[in-house]
Amino acid sequence: MPPNLLILAGTTEATAFARHAAELGLEGTVSFAGRVARPLRQPLPQRVGGFGGAEGLAAYLEEHQVTHLIDATHPFAEQMSRNAVIAAERAGVPLVALTRPPWTPEAGDDWVRVPDIAGAVAALDRPAARVMLAVGRMHLAEFAPNPQHFYLLRLVDPPAVPPPFPDHHVIVDRGPFEAEADRALMEAQGIELVVSKNAGGTGAYAKITAARSLGLPVVMIDRPALPARREVHDIEEALAWVHAGTDLGV
Ligand SMILES: NC(=O)c1ccc[n+]([C@@H]2O[C@H](COP(=O)([O-])OP(=O)(O)OC[C@H]3O[C@@H](n4cnc5c(N)ncnc54)[C@H](OP(=O)(O)O)[C@@H]3O)[C@@H](O)[C@H]2O)c1
Repeated sequence: MPPNLLILAGTTEATAFARHAAELGLEGTVSFAGRVARPLRQPLPQRVGGFGGAEGLAAYLEEHQVTHLIDATHPFAEQMSRNAVIAAERAGVPLVALTRPPWTPEAGDDWVRVPDIAGAVAALDRPAARVMLAVGRMHLAEFAPNPQHFYLLRLVDPPAVPPPFPDHHVIVDRGPFEAEADRALMEAQGIELVVSKNAGGTGAYAKITAARSLGLPVVMIDRPALPARREVHDIEEALAWVHAGTDLGV
């Protein structure tokens, strides 16, 4: 049976993988949660919306005769990645996660590491400061306990509801970003502290480089722990995995 991929997307890596797969003539579907108003055009057919939990995903895999499941979601898309492990097992479909290694501090970095969003909220329980809050639209409400700060928000889409803190400025942009431009932005906005998820990869790293060059502290949110699964770190490895499985008749 020729490969029929299901690519769980929402990242630059997912789009890049889909492009390479399409160029090689592989067939498949790119899946989005539907969080973003204008998802980037994909080189393979796409679908949008949840599957209905692990069970729903397992049913989808069977119904659409998916041969390979590629989890290329963001490292903080914990629920989707957990569901992928369970569904792949249930449907007997091989799974690979295309992941980016986490960022690690370099000389000159001033990181306060926190285990999760709640930890970042706790770290902001301090006198008012000018904060670049780079946690995504879905988590803004959690920062309601600290309305004393000015928050610089950079989001893919404008917030659907006003953030629960009065003093903020929203920039709508989707990146990738450049360190020089992020440094200029932080200077112009008088930023004193950056809050970031440890996303890994290059597209979102500009703010970390900029913070280092300005000597600013970063509250770095660690990734959620995920169940063991096969992981690869680059597109070639993921494609090799598809081909190896195909050669073996998977
Ligand atoms: N979290 C982040 O910081 C972040 C940053 C950049 C991009 N993203 C992207 O945004 C999407 C949503 O992230 P999240 O943190 O809200 O995920 P999540 O909490 O792990 O997922 C919640 C639910 O959304 C649905 N879902 C998530 N990703 C999906 C996909 N690619 N295709 C179809 N359904 C999907 C699933 O619904 P059902 O249970 O109904 O199947 C999942 O259970 C992900 O695709 C991720 O790659 C996330």
